[in-house]
Amino acid sequence: MNEKRSILILTGAGISAESGLATFRGPGGLWEGHRVEDVCTPDALAADPALVHRFYDLRRAALNAVAPNAAHEALARLDAEWGGDLLIVTQNVDDLHERAGARRLLHMHGELRSALCPACGERRAWPDPLPPGVRCPACAAGDLRPDIVFFGEMPYGMEQIEAAIATCDLFVSIGTSGAVYPAAGFVQLANHHGARTLELNLDQSAGSGWFDESRLGPASTLVPAWVDELLAGQSTQ
Ligand code: APR
Repeated sequence: MNEKRSILILTGAGISAESGLATFRGPGGLWEGHRVEDVCTPDALAADPALVHRFYDLRRAALNAVAPNAAHEALARLDAEWGGDLLIVTQNVDDLHERAGARRLLHMHGELRSALCPACGERRAWPDPLPPGVRCPACAAGDLRPDIVFFGEMPYGMEQIEAAIATCDLFVSIGTSGAVYPAAGFVQLANHHGARTLELNLDQSAGSGWFDESRLGPASTLVPAWVDELLAGQSTQ
């Protein structure tokens, strides 16, 4: 593939697993210990804001004890060295892609280190501690909440993502189960627009059948090898 081709990369919790952050589905996954409807819906926030804030406070605190792994670092290297268009769309709300140095990055499900005002939509760095009931400093109309896209809410950046998928030559999915839409449908959109599609994942995912190629294994091994291949111009993709 030549330097000027366009790449869209989708990442999920699996890329951060080897950094020590829990995934959602699978042994010890976050949804094993919590019901989604108790901590990741607008109704949950309205019903028990303290529980929801506590759930994300714990996940935010965990960020201080982890570091990017070789997969995040390889994607940051690709971002820096790839001359064509490239966008990393992450479903993850951790900051490991940024800490590895990625720049062309979009968090479609929000970010743990950001706070959102539901009234005016302003997003700001999370002011630790932030208990429920703190008014937005900008509009004083809404109570600041975790800047996480809850189930039933619209992900961030969908227009930009769909435009990037429509024009990409290569779509690569890394560390996601393909269980949650709209991200789970991106591979089909990429296929529709004629992109080559590659999956790098520990196990078969719900979407594996839609990919031209699936490579199974840990991201910290598969991603650096793929990036080396791509940058050396040897990639089959
Ligand atoms: N290397 C590569 N892949 C891995 C690794 C690893 N070391 N460890 C786990 N995986 C894979 C698993 O095989 C699984 O397919 O990562 C995937 C994790 O799947 P989920 O836990 O479902 O996480 P994700 O796909 O990111 O979830 C999507 O669901 O709950 C919502 O908003 C939440 O963004 C999340 C979305």
